[in-house]
Amino acid sequence: MSAAIQINDVTKRYGALTVLENIDLEIAPGEFVVFLGPSGCGKSTLLRMIAGLEAVDSGTISLGGDRIDTLPPGKRGVAMVFQSYALYPHMTVSQNMGFGLQNIGVAPRDIDRRVKAAAETLEIAHLLDRKPAKLSGGQRQRVAIGRAIVKEPQAFLFDEPLSNLDAALRGRTRLELAQLHQRLGATMIFVTHDQVEAMTLADRIVILNERRIEQMGAPMEIYQRPATKFVAQFVGTPAMSFLPVSGIEDGARGVTLDVAGAGRVETGVHLPATFARENASLGIRAEDAKVLTPGEDGVPLRVKVVERLGDRAFIYGTLSDGTDFVVEDAGRSTVAAGQEVRIGFDPDALHIFDSAGRAYHHTEGA
Ligand SMILES: Nc1ncnc2c1ncn2[C@@H]1O[C@H](COP(=O)(O)OP(=O)(O)OP(=O)(O)O)[C@@H](O)[C@H]1O
Ligand SMILES: [Mg+2]
Repeated sequence: MSAAIQINDVTKRYGALTVLENIDLEIAPGEFVVFLGPSGCGKSTLLRMIAGLEAVDSGTISLGGDRIDTLPPGKRGVAMVFQSYALYPHMTVSQNMGFGLQNIGVAPRDIDRRVKAAAETLEIAHLLDRKPAKLSGGQRQRVAIGRAIVKEPQAFLFDEPLSNLDAALRGRTRLELAQLHQRLGATMIFVTHDQVEAMTLADRIVILNERRIEQMGAPMEIYQRPATKFVAQFVGTPAMSFLPVSGIEDGARGVTLDVAGAGRVETGVHLPATFARENASLGIRAEDAKVLTPGEDGVPLRVKVVERLGDRAFIYGTLSDGTDFVVEDAGRSTVAAGQEVRIGFDPDALHIFDSAGRAYHHTEGA
């Protein structure tokens, strides 16, 4: 089967500003793809070009094998759900959901059938006669999603649809959206700068940065094997700690690094002969380091702040050279600010970056 959505060499400019450059992306039928990236990196622009709300400057976009970038939005077979889901206040839920279909001349009894089916799917059938003012934020958002479902699109495009909801509702709606995707089996693209949404919803995450796709892959692949330093620091909370590397030596299990704030660090990472050794850095996630018991030999960390989350604690401190470092500890951690603790690292979970930001990781079986 051909790709559901194919983006081919697409470039977008606003005047002198190039927002996206030579973007190539294929999305499989039924795939849930999340566009993730910092504010202003072009996530919404890419989505709006698929929807037809922005023109491409060059390149093509196809849906189900047919080119759509030349078609008007209503003829593309996609439906978009926005962050601000303006509903018509004077219309009922049912009228809000059916309005778009009425506009394109769908027969009233078909509208009725589709609205009812969508309302069942979204569990808002009991709200069909209400006006938006009498709905909660989460219910309104579901009406907005219902408006997209009734169009029976080939693909759904979501632009940060959960950002206006409070944290608890956001979590619930996220789960509902994942279930909706399973039920409908539809192709979905979801834009967010919330990495929890990206990690939990996506079959595949596309990381956008500086006009291009920085990396795409399954959520855990992106998390465990970030392709670049940018991805490594962008994905994961708290952010990965980075330590400057002053020397690299080959060893049996992988390279051994000289690190100003941590001494000699053994890793399970093999570097290619072409690796540029100047200005390399070592990246360590908080959960890949641990606080050692007193008396154990490890790297000294001067503790500045302890963040207690209940089930675990994050210990923020500085290494002997002043480099910031975060380590995860148990929820019942007794570590306190002002203390000096010793920490150790899991050699196979370390990441090494060259001066250009390219990442190298432990390879299974290497
Ligand atoms: N209509 C426009 N005219 C000129 N510049 C624009 C226009 N729309 C967006 N831009 C610029 O294009 C870039 C990408 O914008 P876009 O809205 O796609 O970012 P985003 O990744 O969705 O960001 P956010 O996470 O803040 O929503 C930004 O630099 C923005 O200022
Ligand atoms: Mg946006």
